[in-house]
Amino acid sequence: MGNVFVLDHPLIQHKLTYIRDKNTGTKEFRELVDEVAMLMAFEITRNLPLQDETIETPIKESETKVLAGKKIGLIPILRAGLGMVDGMLKLIPAAKVGHVGLYRDPETLKPVEYYIKLPSDISERKLIVIDPMLATGGSANDAIQSLKNRGAKDIRLMCLVAAPEGVEVIKEAHPDVDIYLAALDEKLDEKGYIVPGLGDAGDRLFGTK
Ligand code: URA
Repeated sequence: MGNVFVLDHPLIQHKLTYIRDKNTGTKEFRELVDEVAMLMAFEITRNLPLQDETIETPIKESETKVLAGKKIGLIPILRAGLGMVDGMLKLIPAAKVGHVGLYRDPETLKPVEYYIKLPSDISERKLIVIDPMLATGGSANDAIQSLKNRGAKDIRLMCLVAAPEGVEVIKEAHPDVDIYLAALDEKLDEKGYIVPGLGDAGDRLFGTK
């Protein structure tokens, strides 16, 4: 079963408080999300495998470590996921970035994929799907399934804030996917917003309404 990790580093929790605050404006919101994404990237990559490398320091030959194995792919779900990409790229600058665009059909309420563009070698990469708000879990569920249908084998999901309902959907549908959160909130409200949440992440990132 996939694990759920709440990344409760004090810096993440501190910055998340100001991200949640309704009085935080677009510029500051964007900067804080960027910083939290970077801190989360640090935690999410904690268990990446290492391999030995021999180098010469100015003093002597030395056995050291470098990252081994699979490379990383970041897959933001449009549009709010874009807000976390740059922060992650600061720590993982060689990562490739794929994009998945989904919207919710107003009649069926089901996510519809309107855009997908991925690195060609996703089956060989460790993929991090970025969905800042895991609400019903519908979009993340669909995006993960879409990646698996195209050959992805190693996927983790990264969210700023999640509702328990969304976490359950992903755990049920994708037990192989570990979920990394900055916070697990109380519930969804009747309009599908996370409570207490932070409002609409896309609107707050891009200054739209
Ligand atoms: N998407 C958001 O941006 N916010 C929520 O609370 C739920 C879904």
